[in-house]
Amino acid sequence: MIPVLPPTEENLRRAAEELAAGRLVSFPTETVYGLGANALDPIALARIFEAKRRPFFDPLIVHIAERSSLDALCARDARAEKLMDRFWPGPLTLVLPKTGAVPELATSGLPTVAVRMPAHPVALALIRMAGFPLAAPSANPFGRLSPTEAAHVRDQFRDTESLIAFVLDGGPCSVGVESTILSLEGDPVLLRAGGLPREEIEALIGPVALSTMDPERPDRPLAPGQLPGHYAPRTRLRLLEKPLTRDADGRPVPGSGMIFAEVMHKAGMKLGWLGLRDAFGSAPGPFAATEALSPSGDPREAAANLFACLHRLDRLGLDLILAEPVEEIGLGLAIMDRLRKAAAGSAVGL
Ligand code: TXA
Ligand code: MG
Repeated sequence: MIPVLPPTEENLRRAAEELAAGRLVSFPTETVYGLGANALDPIALARIFEAKRRPFFDPLIVHIAERSSLDALCARDARAEKLMDRFWPGPLTLVLPKTGAVPELATSGLPTVAVRMPAHPVALALIRMAGFPLAAPSANPFGRLSPTEAAHVRDQFRDTESLIAFVLDGGPCSVGVESTILSLEGDPVLLRAGGLPREEIEALIGPVALSTMDPERPDRPLAPGQLPGHYAPRTRLRLLEKPLTRDADGRPVPGSGMIFAEVMHKAGMKLGWLGLRDAFGSAPGPFAATEALSPSGDPREAAANLFACLHRLDRLGLDLILAEPVEEIGLGLAIMDRLRKAAAGSAVGL
């Protein structure tokens, strides 16, 4: 198994040494755990793709700890500076014109590079100690659930573990969904909904368009990680069209979602439930297991719990997970994006 180590001074130093030698170290960020490599070392970058079984057309995010590190990596304009002033360190990744110093493998040959300053003390300490930027995708095999705890990383990489030196344990991730990705190549375009709500970006820089796939090139979506089928649990997942109807005490009343669940249950299927609030208490009805993203319905808490809830349900050998939709405002946009992809991935068996 991949060792999971506490982020002591000594382990941070060891991690920096492993990274300098071209090896991979998984580290915590406020969004999800990353699988880090020296962003300026093409061989180290190749190991990321190998460990994740990730296609080379999916570019990486380069993580920095000081704004001055950007001078060597990318160009930045007034809009970028304004966004960095307000939201960095934090869950916002900016796609900017790159310099020649960034290896092609980090950007999949694109003329832009994705950069972010994570808001996690362990990530920042590690980048500073390493002395070079860290390329880091989420630390999960390609297309699978993102890790929000050190154990998620360890448990998902059993067969490629030798490529990963160790995981630095920074506890559970506070944001819990990946960073919001904003392209500033031209007019601002939201490439991935994430931990920073679109509304907060628009309040600062004005309208932000939503990305669309290029209909001519469905194999090359604008943000490659936006492929349907990303973030899929092994268990099939079905996203209901509407939230459950509840009575005055918050208990579910018969409606299309519950009727579907009852029918599947009677047919002998082992079902899981993923909902926003706790709807079932000690009487889970047709469900073998239930998870609530946030008992109080708080979107921040819901996003932070999303992947941990999915990981837990995924371990139970269920036949099907039913997921309840949430309202698509604020962090709800990122939560629904991940749930749709989980549902699409399970439909095509990714
Ligand atoms: O929260 C996060 O962003 C986490 C943590 C570890 O920082 N990282 C993460 O990385 O989610 P990853 O590799 O799972 O997602 C990177 C995505 C790519 O799939 C792609 O959509 C986008 O970032 N991306 C990277 N470089 C790009 C570029 N030059 N142009 C457009 N999209 C890019
Ligand atoms: Mg990922």
